Amino acid sequence: MKAIVVYESHWGNTAAVARAIAEGIGPETQALSTAEASGEVIAGTDLIIAGAPLLGFSLPTESMLKGLAGNASKDPVAPDLSHPSMRSWLDALPKGAGGAASFETRIWWSPGSAAKAILGKLEALGYRPVAKAQRFVVQGKYGPLRDGELERAKAWGAALVQAMK
Ligand SMILES: Cc1cc2nc3c(=O)[nH]c(=O)nc-3n(C[C@H](O)[C@H](O)[C@H](O)COP(=O)(O)O)c2cc1C
Repeated sequence: MKAIVVYESHWGNTAAVARAIAEGIGPETQALSTAEASGEVIAGTDLIIAGAPLLGFSLPTESMLKGLAGNASKDPVAPDLSHPSMRSWLDALPKGAGGAASFETRIWWSPGSAAKAILGKLEALGYRPVAKAQRFVVQGKYGPLRDGELERAKAWGAALVQAMK
């Protein structure tokens, strides 16, 4: 099975979860940013797992990312804005029929879900959800991840392999 984990991540939390999920799936699975996951790289993929942070109660929009760029000097750590939004990556994704799963990183109590928005978009393109949209929790606005979340992400990756069987 060829699986790929694709992420949008500005402070590294979602990227770390993506790497842990890929590790749980197996050594051949890569975690790639939206910039790295080109059409060529994802061709022939059986399972796409896509993740993004929940920002402003939603899957980040282009205007939010512009806002992050404008506000960067006030952040404790400048955001990584080197890759496109998950939203635009999904807009460019061709239709498909493979498996799909999604995740988000977020604080505990917030309304909204980036992961559900991602899964809905994948489903609309013809992909088949193999798991419920998953959330991984950070301790503060910029992270770090809550203790145990990376282990949980790895286990979720392994469970996705089973769900594909
Ligand atoms: C500007 C900003 C807005 C945020 N808005 C929300 C939000 O609405 N709900 C939430 O649960 N977390 C929110 N967070 C927390 C992020 O979702 C969390 O830090 C996430 O892990 C960031 O992912 P990244 O490190 O991969 O960029 C926000 C963080 C920032 C910096």
